[in-house]
Amino acid sequence: MAEPAGRRRGPFGLLVLVPLWTALWSSTCWARSGHPRLRLSHKELRDLNRSEVFQGPPGGLDLSTMLLDEAQESLFIGGRNTLFSLSLENVNAQHREIHWPSTATQVDDCLMKGREKSECANYIKVLHQYNGTHLLACGTGAFDPVCAHISLGRWAQDPVFTLQEDLVESGRGRCPFDPHSSCVSTLSRGELFVGLYTDYWENDAALCRLGNRSYTRTERDDRRLLNEPKFVGSVVIPDNDDPDDDKVYYFFTEKALDVESGNHAVYSRIGRVCANDQGGQRMLVNKWSSFIKTRLICSVPGPHGIDTHLDQLEDVFVLKKKDEKTPEIFGLSAQQATYFGATPEGPDHHWTAFQGRVPFPRPGSCASQVNGGQYSSSRQYPDEVLRFVRDHPVMLQAVRPLHHRPVLLRSEGGRRLTQLAVDRVEAQDGHYHVLFIGTDDSVVLKVITIYNADSDTMEEVLLEELHVFKVPVPITEILISTKRQQLYVGSELGVAQVKVHQCDLYGSACADCCLARDPYCAWDGHTCSRYLSVGLSAKRRFRRQDVRHGNAVQQCDGVLMRGQQSHSAEERRVYGVENNSTLLECKPRSPQANAHWLLQRGTDNDEVRVDDRVVKTPHGLLFLRLRRADAGVYLCQTDEHGFIQPLARITLEGSASKLWYKDFLQLIGYSNFQKVEEYCERVWCSERRRRKLKALQPKWKFSPAQERRGGTRGDRPRTPRHALTHPDTP
Ligand SMILES: *[C@@H]1O[C@H](CO)[C@@H](O)[C@H](O)[C@H]1NC(C)=O
Ligand SMILES: *[C@@H]1O[C@H](CO)[C@@H](O)[C@H](O)[C@H]1NC(C)=O
Ligand SMILES: *[C@@H]1O[C@H](CO)[C@@H](O)[C@H](O)[C@H]1NC(C)=O
Ligand SMILES: *[C@@H]1O[C@H](CO)[C@@H](O)[C@H](O)[C@H]1NC(C)=O
Ligand SMILES: *[C@@H]1O[C@H](CO)[C@@H](O)[C@H](O)[C@H]1NC(C)=O
Repeated sequence: MAEPAGRRRGPFGLLVLVPLWTALWSSTCWARSGHPRLRLSHKELRDLNRSEVFQGPPGGLDLSTMLLDEAQESLFIGGRNTLFSLSLENVNAQHREIHWPSTATQVDDCLMKGREKSECANYIKVLHQYNGTHLLACGTGAFDPVCAHISLGRWAQDPVFTLQEDLVESGRGRCPFDPHSSCVSTLSRGELFVGLYTDYWENDAALCRLGNRSYTRTERDDRRLLNEPKFVGSVVIPDNDDPDDDKVYYFFTEKALDVESGNHAVYSRIGRVCANDQGGQRMLVNKWSSFIKTRLICSVPGPHGIDTHLDQLEDVFVLKKKDEKTPEIFGLSAQQATYFGATPEGPDHHWTAFQGRVPFPRPGSCASQVNGGQYSSSRQYPDEVLRFVRDHPVMLQAVRPLHHRPVLLRSEGGRRLTQLAVDRVEAQDGHYHVLFIGTDDSVVLKVITIYNADSDTMEEVLLEELHVFKVPVPITEILISTKRQQLYVGSELGVAQVKVHQCDLYGSACADCCLARDPYCAWDGHTCSRYLSVGLSAKRRFRRQDVRHGNAVQQCDGVLMRGQQSHSAEERRVYGVENNSTLLECKPRSPQANAHWLLQRGTDNDEVRVDDRVVKTPHGLLFLRLRRADAGVYLCQTDEHGFIQPLARITLEGSASKLWYKDFLQLIGYSNFQKVEEYCERVWCSERRRRKLKALQPKWKFSPAQERRGGTRGDRPRTPRHALTHPDTP
């Protein structure tokens, strides 16, 4: 079998493109506690006016593609039989739509072939900005792909959104037949680069270019090039200032070649062609003369030096920079669920390293000035070069992540991570990559990772967990508008819009804001709000933010007073009944904080000892069986990132003999004194007490509570709002 070239400096080695891989880990050994600083349910997002959802027609949207157009202030989406143009400001406001179903003939043919009615719709799977005034859209057209141009107004105010019906053309080679088929595409200089299955039966996988007058693709039926691939992404990246050196990258997974010998592994791949590739003259006619691919490594060091590879590439995000030549590429990869063998390191065993002489121009180079300018087109390449390229499509050297490790490893239990988008955010102490990760149950996780050079470790900070749709569905698209600071999240249920930051929801104190460690947010002296590094003025000095350490003590010193006033420990009194259970409630404001309980003894505070009887719960301290000796003053504090905040000071009184009447009130309510009998049935009235209670009934009177001091938060049912003035305990 053909061997890939092993070189000191392969074409990929030249690249500044060094993918950073974000990994999903489906084993539990790397599981983190994973509490977000902020968790918002769908209802909370809606009630707080943080999210809008465009649901589309009643029958569902079947969204398969989204295109952001910040200049036109529009979000274009392609679903089943319909294209929509939504407003970036509010996806749920006025929208425009184009109905573009399959024709009656197409549907009849499709049904004749035995397809389901639902499959015979036109699923729009390709959507690109074609030029300043038009979009290119392609759909499956009832297993008969079609493409058309959509005219837009030249300006955002121009309300044009129409399909050029007279110009609908075949979409074969540009769009798959099957709505479920994977397909990636990118448009560059008027040419469409696609990775897709080109035929009805899904036998012919190809990477192709539909150029101005040419059609170039991978060779048919060559499983060395593509072996049952799943296409994940594609991007055009210039290598230098010579456009003839532009490269097109395809990201995909494919099966190992030696399936017959029981290797069911799937490999993540990155494939590359020259954008200007014209194919060969006598051989490789209209076929890539520059196609090479290699393995994309996303691995985790395991015991005994055996790395575990995460080869199930789910999504790729290209974070563009000002310098187009050096984008950062993030990948989302999972461990192969159905495959439990050890995925071998490096290329398939099927391939062996090539030891001979590599011809010039070496595989993967483009016909350009940079490469000597000897050839102005790949058609001029010597046959020897073309033959070598054809026979050696795999690079020996794999592409590895930037720091040779995943940026992030997560185990989400049953949850699958499906989509990824990344924003680069400037903070006071540097810039951060904020990852937005979509799951298969409607959640968007917002995460940053911080590299600690001292310990050579990555710290993961889970900032938000947003449940963007009402019911759990897989998230299939995430787009970021930096201009609007919004996230557009797609699923079959529709498109949800949510801000990339919810600074004010972290809390109303400086400490809350600093502890959140959200690079978007800073304490401005009054609220937690968007941090902007641009337009620096004197104002900036008052901005408090510490993403790296979350050191609220340092940041909020001085301003802490204000924060503490609004959050001073709440004073409460709780009456317990001997031998019964009692809860001292205290809930940390942040799920990332730990609660500590101290018992005040004179001037000392002792940590409360927990055991079978006294239990720390997420809601507070629970006494399962109260003893008289438990009475005392309890202090609840939260510790978050070393920042200690007192939350509540609770006085527990626990004498049954003194408290029987309060208990009585709690049981029967304050106004219903007819229930003495009922009460005494249930509790411990002696005959004497029962008689006395009844006799005293008319004399009960109310007065405002004296024992309640402190804040109003955390009203507890156990503490009566009113105390009774009453004669001495019977
Ligand atoms: C909700 O937000 C939208 C835009 O973000 C705004 O126009 C609208 O007034 C807000 N509604 C409420 C009740 O705050
Ligand atoms: C954009 O492409 C369409 C379709 O080919 C064409 O009709 C239109 O004139 C083009 N517009 C510009 C500004 O080039
Ligand atoms: C293809 O044609 C378009 C419009 O005619 C032109 O702008 C573009 O440069 C051409 N692309 C190539 C690679 O020749
Ligand atoms: C509580 O339980 C203990 C032991 O079971 C018992 O001696 C005591 O009388 C009980 N106290 C009350 C008020 O029921
Ligand atoms: C015992 O505690 C429970 C819950 O804390 C409460 O509902 C119940 O009324 C208490 N019983 C007595 C006799 O105080």
